[in-house]
Amino acid sequence: MKPYYITTAIDYTNAPPHIGHAYEKVLADVMARFQRLNGREVFFLTGVDQHGQKVQKSAEKAELSPQVFVDGITGHFTALWDKLNVRYDGWAATTDPRHKRVVQAMLQKLHDCGQLYKQGYTGFYSVRQEQFLTDKERGPDGVFGVEWGEVVELEEENWYFRLSDHVEWLKSYINSHPDFIFPAHRAHDVLNALEGAAQDLCISRPLERLSWGIPLPFDEKFVNYVWFDALTNYISFAGYLAGECGNEGLPDFANLWPSEAHVIGKDILVPAHAVYWPIMLHALGFSDDQIPRLIVHGWWNMKGAKISKSLGNVIDPNVLADTFTADGLRYYVMRDIATGYDSDFSEERLVMSYNKELAGGLGNLLNRSINMAQKYRGGVLTPGSYDDAENAALRQTVAEALTVYLEKMNSWAIHDGIHAAWKIVTHANAFVDSTKPFSLAKDPAQAARLDSVLYHLAEAWVHVSVLLNPIMPTAMATARAQIGWETPAGFVLSDLKWGLLKDGHQLGTPVPLFPRLEIEPPAA
Ligand code: MSP
Repeated sequence: MKPYYITTAIDYTNAPPHIGHAYEKVLADVMARFQRLNGREVFFLTGVDQHGQKVQKSAEKAELSPQVFVDGITGHFTALWDKLNVRYDGWAATTDPRHKRVVQAMLQKLHDCGQLYKQGYTGFYSVRQEQFLTDKERGPDGVFGVEWGEVVELEEENWYFRLSDHVEWLKSYINSHPDFIFPAHRAHDVLNALEGAAQDLCISRPLERLSWGIPLPFDEKFVNYVWFDALTNYISFAGYLAGECGNEGLPDFANLWPSEAHVIGKDILVPAHAVYWPIMLHALGFSDDQIPRLIVHGWWNMKGAKISKSLGNVIDPNVLADTFTADGLRYYVMRDIATGYDSDFSEERLVMSYNKELAGGLGNLLNRSINMAQKYRGGVLTPGSYDDAENAALRQTVAEALTVYLEKMNSWAIHDGIHAAWKIVTHANAFVDSTKPFSLAKDPAQAARLDSVLYHLAEAWVHVSVLLNPIMPTAMATARAQIGWETPAGFVLSDLKWGLLKDGHQLGTPVPLFPRLEIEPPAA
């Protein structure tokens, strides 16, 4: 079986990361870890989009060379991914010479087969969005909206890609491949955008206007337009044309492609990922079964408003991770959003999810389970042969949680996967309350029952620590260390069965997993 090849959008290096960037990378990391746990080999690619006008301008403003500028911002991204335990296998930085060679080779291929042509054009141009505007972009009042920023009239010659030649193919591809885009309803947005006269795509910028880009190999007065450059990262860093370009240290493309998940935000679905990208691949000769799948997530907003530097509501994920731990933040951004939909970032919810759910529900269960076993049995587990309906019910909850978790995680419903695992936590906490181990410990006649209760709690925890591992890898490893059990090499989800802790198993020392934070939630 091919590795599970997962990518994210590559982040613009014109500004440091915010919570939206962090969410996307954590989402992909959780899926990568889940797929590994589920027995798949995984290749996870992420990186940075370093070329383009936005970067050139920001670098000019900062009085730095573009390379020095992007290296600095790139450092913020890599440091954050380290801090958040986002573990990628490939790093796609578009200034990497290997990537530049592939972009040029790809452009040459398209040029050689007549897919590119040069033409003069006069029109309105959005400096902010780096694109020419048409009447479609005008508001009902005939004016270009504020989202386009400064709009200037420009006349210039450029290179064009024969996008329109492939639009009919794309429509039929979308209609016959309901899995192409997740969630499926987003495909309608794409089909709507494809209605009307199809236009070719301008893929160049004159060198005098944009110097910070990859030169066209067949016309050095131009550099490549940023989307063509950026999208190509998904294949260049997967080893596409590696032999031809003399690229080393990259995966075997034939073994990896197509990607099963390009994880992107809804803002870059149309036209970039759902129109330009499949058409680029199709024009390059990729077959229909070589078109990657798009996983489109929603946005984190702030009190319903977009997170943006200009609104001054950007939240630094570093600060949040320092306060709530990387796992606390990972948990919150996975728990409080449904993949594909928007959510509102709320520090109040973050504090609550940490203190109530992680410190209270989850951490407390582990702590008291180990504590009681230490106190009453010196931390030694003896499952014995005692059984009753309460024990059976807990085992049943664990078994059901496993099935639901697998189904939900496989279909990108991470929040539901967490919910499934949490059923074990809730039931196990209720199990402590109803079996009352502290009372059982006082009655020698209840010794066998107490053993079975302590064993059930530890086993339930083994399951929780595996299921929640993709979401909170550090905390779950700590939990397993406290239980005194580590996943054996090659352990996969199908190995997770009741009875992993053997008779005589010695538990470790309990240490609070998520120490409660004395933080008052901010006033609403
Ligand atoms: N560089 C392009 C992507 C090129 S991919 C070939 C880009 N960069 S970006 O930095 O603006 O955005 C990177 C990713 O972060 C995108 O998928 C975008 O949707 C996502 N997010 C940016 N802000 C976000 C939120 N507020 N919430 C969730 N995700 C958001 O676009």
